[in-house]
Amino acid sequence: MNTESFQNPDKDLNEMLDLYRNIFNHIFNWVVVVDTEGYVILLNKAYCDFLGVKQEEALGKHVTEVIENTRMHIVVKNQREEIGEFQKIKGNTMVANRIPIFKNNKLIGAVGTVVFKDLVEMESYVKRVRDMEKELQFYQEEFKKMTTGYTLEDIIGDSPEIEYVKKMIQKVANTKSNVLLEGESGTGKELVAQAIHHLSPRGDFPLIKVNCAAIPGELLESELFGYEHGAFTGSKKGGKLGKLEMANNSTILLDEIGDMPINMQVKLLRAIQEKEIERVGGVRSKKLDFRIIASSNKNLKELVAKQQFREDLYYRLNVVKITLPPLRKRDSDIEIIARYLIKKLSKDLGLGVTEVTPKALWVLKKYSWPGNIRELSNVIERALNLMDSEGRIDTDHLPPYLRESSSPLGLDQGLGLKEQVQKVERDSIKRALNKTKHNKLEAAKILGISRTSLYKKIEEYGL
Ligand SMILES: Nc1ncnc2c1ncn2[C@@H]1O[C@H](COP(=O)(O)OP(=O)(O)OP(=O)(O)O)[C@@H](O)[C@H]1O
Ligand SMILES: [Mg+2]
Repeated sequence: MNTESFQNPDKDLNEMLDLYRNIFNHIFNWVVVVDTEGYVILLNKAYCDFLGVKQEEALGKHVTEVIENTRMHIVVKNQREEIGEFQKIKGNTMVANRIPIFKNNKLIGAVGTVVFKDLVEMESYVKRVRDMEKELQFYQEEFKKMTTGYTLEDIIGDSPEIEYVKKMIQKVANTKSNVLLEGESGTGKELVAQAIHHLSPRGDFPLIKVNCAAIPGELLESELFGYEHGAFTGSKKGGKLGKLEMANNSTILLDEIGDMPINMQVKLLRAIQEKEIERVGGVRSKKLDFRIIASSNKNLKELVAKQQFREDLYYRLNVVKITLPPLRKRDSDIEIIARYLIKKLSKDLGLGVTEVTPKALWVLKKYSWPGNIRELSNVIERALNLMDSEGRIDTDHLPPYLRESSSPLGLDQGLGLKEQVQKVERDSIKRALNKTKHNKLEAAKILGISRTSLYKKIEEYGL
């Protein structure tokens, strides 16, 4: 609008009126407006064309003379809107909305619109919406699989130890309590966290994960709490949403919580107690509802004793503790998990291998699995890669360190189970390091443990 039109309000009004008239005539939908008696005040061009009447002739006529089967005159009389009503015009069944209009609580007329010009059009809309809904549902399910992935059925095994874990998962899923998952590397802590979340009423929201060991201490705060715009140099424009905020109404998995620096532990404890957070550089705090599942492959109680973990936070997280048994403590599960993994990985690799020889199975059962199920999975994947598309996994397909270590186990007289396990663990690590010429990343991969775990073991065994 230019300055001239401000100086001449009438011109402005006329221009606006012209604009509205134009829009009204060009609306694709069909529109009619009647006065309080049911006489046509407005009828847009598209509607006129369909009805086969001239606009100037239709205006001023009673609506019943212009539109077949209309109820606009009834709507102004009853002053009650009619939405989605069928109306037959020229043999076509249309869907119409009729709405009375009021000014200062007084009726001034009614507006009628044809929403669908015939049932075919409506059906095609409905079909499109249904198709879109189906597509949406597909993506929602895919998204759910990606984020919450695993359920109780994915936790394989029927040993009393794992059955107890499954029972605990079911019990705890319905509560809001924080859960602490302890267990060696590769025992399935993440799997269990996902199953708890998936089974809980929060399962429709994505599970938010933070690996406390992988994020440098100084970045962990903004990762968890987020930051406001301009909180520090190099911060992202507009700030950043923290993982705790993302986990509102959902669950946050704090992986490797034992590695969380003490100052962050203090801040996390406060967030749990107050049930609210403050972004870095923020002034206001925000109420949140998140559930924490913390996991650790270290014994947190021991860390508390060594003053590396705050006792108060430990008790806040340890409302329910689930300890995942190492594979060697439930060796009756080795066969069933191995068979499951063979089928699953074979399918992923496009192979038809589903069997394992009794001898190979014996080796698998005898081994101590320091890297637990992750290691077992890696061993099976490796075996499958050495095979043709058919056949059975045999001892030849298993890594040498596994074959060798399985034979003397149990023959070391005078050694308790713990010492035997340690011996096997030490030997396995040594072999993996030799094999990879001390490439730790490669060795960790072979062993199916994280590089950090490997470093710790190397230190522990003085290798
Ligand atoms: N009971 C089980 N049945 C089938 N697969 C399992 C089971 N437990 C673990 N796995 C598989 O083993 C692998 C390791 O499990 P997961 O990542 O949950 O271990 P983790 O305890 O979180 O280990 P880390 O401490 O190293 O992070 C995953 O691929 C997981 O799917
Ligand atoms: Mg994990």
